[in-house]
Amino acid sequence: MSDRMVFDLIDKLNTEHALSRQEWISVIDGYTPEIASYVSEKARYWQQKYYGNKIFVRGLIEMTNYCKNDCYYCGIRRSNRNAERYRLTKDEILACADLGYELGYRTIVLQGGEDPFYKDEDIAAIVTMIKQAHPDCAVTLSLGEREYDTYKLWFDAGADRYLLRHETANHDHYRYLHPEPLSAVHRQQCLRDLKQIGYQAGAGFMVGAPGQTTEHLAEDMLFLKELDPEMVGIGPFLPHHDTPFADEKPGSTEMTIYFLGLLRLMLPKVLLPATTALGTADPLGREKGVQAGANVVMPNLSPTDVRKKYELYDNKICTGDEAAECKNCLANRMRSIGYEVVASRGDHYSVTV
Ligand code: 5AD
Ligand code: FES
Repeated sequence: MSDRMVFDLIDKLNTEHALSRQEWISVIDGYTPEIASYVSEKARYWQQKYYGNKIFVRGLIEMTNYCKNDCYYCGIRRSNRNAERYRLTKDEILACADLGYELGYRTIVLQGGEDPFYKDEDIAAIVTMIKQAHPDCAVTLSLGEREYDTYKLWFDAGADRYLLRHETANHDHYRYLHPEPLSAVHRQQCLRDLKQIGYQAGAGFMVGAPGQTTEHLAEDMLFLKELDPEMVGIGPFLPHHDTPFADEKPGSTEMTIYFLGLLRLMLPKVLLPATTALGTADPLGREKGVQAGANVVMPNLSPTDVRKKYELYDNKICTGDEAAECKNCLANRMRSIGYEVVASRGDHYSVTV
């Protein structure tokens, strides 16, 4: 396929917001720096149209690194005996949320491994307390796979959004990345349940995950188009030294940035974070991500003494900084490229109009 034909496919994506499986394969394999900058330019049009130069911030609380799952890529997998485990108490979580509120955050994200220590009712109580203390805050949960009734309980307690990356749409590739009992079927069911309950839902995948092919990535794009989530989180795969994938090569920053742009063209209104993994892979990764269409950043609000322990991959950034530093750092970084972080809930465009 010639470059000309790839440019034409980008134009088609930009007007129709969809491509066929074969077209996606051509676009992904057709990557060149020139095509990527063309994608970024088009992506910024939609970013600007729906969100202006505003970047939404989410205060991220990493509440537990206990996890009952054993994903081959993840540093907090249950088989990693070297991970120093911690969990925050309800009071610690609330104190973190209060600090976030004072710093100006209007979205609090509770993220953690799948930790059975917290009962469904405990999480519901934490959500209720945060919403009672800060009714103008959105609460986002990112606590893994549960059943419909649990998601419903948390939604009724006041949770607004839920992040659950689909990881890979292809079932064989899913099995390559995750041992049983995890399955792509259940994961995708969770996402459909979340949407049905009324959450703003976030899916996503790692770019350059071990075993990933162009076909898998094409399927990820088709899956996301069909699911139509409000948010999509992507970042490069980065190896963690205490996992079975320790010696796998990291995903490419350039490809991740390319995909951010492609996602903005496919889902023009989507909430798209420039992730910590992207900032870890490249010191200017988050800035480049925003310039390719991302419109969300998620500074770390966790207590400093636990940040290093929430290590999904090696060399994670922001493990030494105070919450206030992280927020200012990102505000400055965004300002340096002509964007402004804003203190608002930062809902999906369809919720605000
Ligand atoms: N490299 C990059 N991203 C990772 N995640 C987990 N482990 C890694 C890794 N080694 C991502 C997964 C998960 C999210 C919380 O972090 O996509 O859904
Ligand atoms: Fe955490 Fe820059 S965002 S220190």
